[in-house]
Amino acid sequence: MEITVRKMHDDDARRFLEVHHAAVRGIAAEDYPQAVIEDWAPQPITEKGIAEFLANPDNEIRLVAEINSEIIGIGALVVANNELRACYVAPDASRKGVGSALVHKIESIARDHELVVLHADSSVTAEPFYRALGYAARKHGQHILRSGQRMACVKMEKRLEPQ
Ligand SMILES: CC(C)(COP(=O)(O)OP(=O)(O)OC[C@H]1O[C@@H](n2cnc3c(N)ncnc32)[C@H](O)[C@@H]1OP(=O)(O)O)[C@@H](O)C(=O)NCCC(=O)NCCS
Repeated sequence: MEITVRKMHDDDARRFLEVHHAAVRGIAAEDYPQAVIEDWAPQPITEKGIAEFLANPDNEIRLVAEINSEIIGIGALVVANNELRACYVAPDASRKGVGSALVHKIESIARDHELVVLHADSSVTAEPFYRALGYAARKHGQHILRSGQRMACVKMEKRLEPQ
């Protein structure tokens, strides 16, 4: 089973959002109230929502992970903020190393941009995942979703060793 990670193309946008929503609703929903889930992964995915996502105001570098040419994971990096912005894996592809492959690629791109540290607002759900990849929890806090809704998060960071 080969996992490949590549940059997202514009015509992957709907699938990118579908994987994001599936991960939130299928995995993270156990740890958050329904109101947070509804704002974090709003349904349905509309053409307007896709257009707003593609506008990409924060200049996210967006990645997709594929198995057998099917997108089953997504990730994002914001270089200007030293921020690992996103890592989500479809529930039926979890615990196969897809999330790790995405984070390794994000770290590689970060190093290419000469970043020496990455920060992440981890969901409570993903904290053990980021810890397994060498991220340390700095403090518990709140992440503010685009809608203004607040959600519990863990502020994590990792120093990137040169490779
Ligand atoms: C967190 C997430 C990205 C992990 O993706 P994944 O592809 O399943 O992760 P991997 O298979 O690469 O896991 C690597 C290691 O992380 C750790 N890990 C991953 N998920 C874990 C969990 N639920 N509980 C404990 N440890 C976990 C394990 O050590 C794992 O290694 P192992 O499977 O050999 O034990 C995925 O579960 C997800 O999308 N979660 C919901 C969305 C979310 O909260 N994303 C983060 C937003 S900030």
